[in-house]
Amino acid sequence: MLDLTIRRGRVVSEGRVIEGDVGVRDGRIAEIGRNLAAGRHEIDAAGRWVLPGGIDSHCHVEQRSGMGMMCADDFYSATVSAAFGGTTTILPFAAQHRGMSVPKVLEDYSRRAAEKAVIDYGFHLILANPDDRTLQEDLPRAIRDGITSLKVYMTYEQMRLEDAQLLNVLALARRERALVMVHAENHDMIKWLTHRLLERGHKAPKFHGMAHDTLAETEAAFRAIAMSRLIDVPVLLVHVAGCETVELIRQAQQLGANVLAESCPQYLFLTAQDMDRPGMEGAKFCCSPPARDGQSQEAVWRGLIDGTLMTYSSDHAPYRFDETGKLPKGDATTFKEMANGMPGIELRLPLLFSEGFLAGRMDIHQFVALAATNHARLYGLAPRKGTIAVGADADLALWNPERRVTVTPDLLHDNAGYTPYEGRTIQGWPEVVISRGRVIVENGKLHAERGSGQYLRRGAPDVPLREPSGERSRRPFGSVLRALVGIEEAR
Ligand code: URP
Ligand code: ZN
Ligand code: ZN
Repeated sequence: MLDLTIRRGRVVSEGRVIEGDVGVRDGRIAEIGRNLAAGRHEIDAAGRWVLPGGIDSHCHVEQRSGMGMMCADDFYSATVSAAFGGTTTILPFAAQHRGMSVPKVLEDYSRRAAEKAVIDYGFHLILANPDDRTLQEDLPRAIRDGITSLKVYMTYEQMRLEDAQLLNVLALARRERALVMVHAENHDMIKWLTHRLLERGHKAPKFHGMAHDTLAETEAAFRAIAMSRLIDVPVLLVHVAGCETVELIRQAQQLGANVLAESCPQYLFLTAQDMDRPGMEGAKFCCSPPARDGQSQEAVWRGLIDGTLMTYSSDHAPYRFDETGKLPKGDATTFKEMANGMPGIELRLPLLFSEGFLAGRMDIHQFVALAATNHARLYGLAPRKGTIAVGADADLALWNPERRVTVTPDLLHDNAGYTPYEGRTIQGWPEVVISRGRVIVENGKLHAERGSGQYLRRGAPDVPLREPSGERSRRPFGSVLRALVGIEEAR
């Protein structure tokens, strides 16, 4: 007998659509087919898409930001919110700030997540203190223990690494087989623009968009790609916003560079104009890099559809519209002082299902790849997560394509208190969500215990190697460079 049988769904399994059933035993997918045996629990999925539970590989949970603000969600509220949006695995950050040791940071985040998470989770490490001990001992140990990805910042005064430090991290990542995620924005351009804007009294939220000019993103992305090519190690550019950056990434990939990239709902559905709403309302829409214009929205859509951008994450960075986050000085808060980031963990997938898949921009397989499968692969969670296949964890979301939902803040389960997508109508909704065979969301109710999510020790990233297109050849990577990177002796 099966523990759970899901019947008559439209099941998306490894590139195929199967009209049939999914059988679950001991938390894993045991069978996929037609007329499967009875389950102790049965779900009728007629008219529903049965898809892998989503994986959100970029979200900030119970984390202090580079600017020192604590985000509004803890591991309970963030994972509940994720679950209601069809996501069954998250990869938030364990953030090292200057002066902190990696083992202490990991211990702290692990304890807090273990007590509260309702879905499975792993961590990326944010690295802001790449001293000798961190690079030589703590980081290699953390990578071997399953934290196989790191995020580094090229901006934010308290977080950013110098280029030489970034090269050290990339060389280490090459030796230890970790994936480096880069927040690419040119720090000095932003600092210079911010100073001049504030000097002239331009404090309103909309000036955040001007201070974080799109060229600051493109320039830093170019530099990060050049460094990754120098060290011959993949790099993943997170939260890509601008059309020139998408084009740069596409060209670098054609040269054979192993550059990967991610984008997020805010760059598909919002623009810089949202920061120009009356009063301080625009603060709700300030994130870094900021949303740009219609041309960039189209470029990001194109990048996600043609595979230039391989993952679609929320970059959920929830701050309340009050003195704890967006308005530390009330209405006198300048754009420089407000917390950067916005909520999105719950609506990430409904927005893409509605406007990507049902609106006809992408097929269901592209949706599944962007929602789950590519994250699992790149971040060392495959084949256990991100796919509906026999032996994989039974992490599933049953989507009703007929359900129309108009977004209001009280529909959502995070603690931000607002949503940038308020008023939007979304077509299609994940009505039943299953994590390792447990039905955790059904009939609009949560059925998961606090702390029932499991920690995921991840394997090495599985990065697709790109070959140069046309006449081009890959950059040679000689023995002297190998020695400098520390992977073999110079000859
Ligand atoms: O504005 C954003 N995205 N805040 C979160 C921190 C980050 O850089 O991802
Ligand atoms: Zn970032
Ligand atoms: Zn982020």
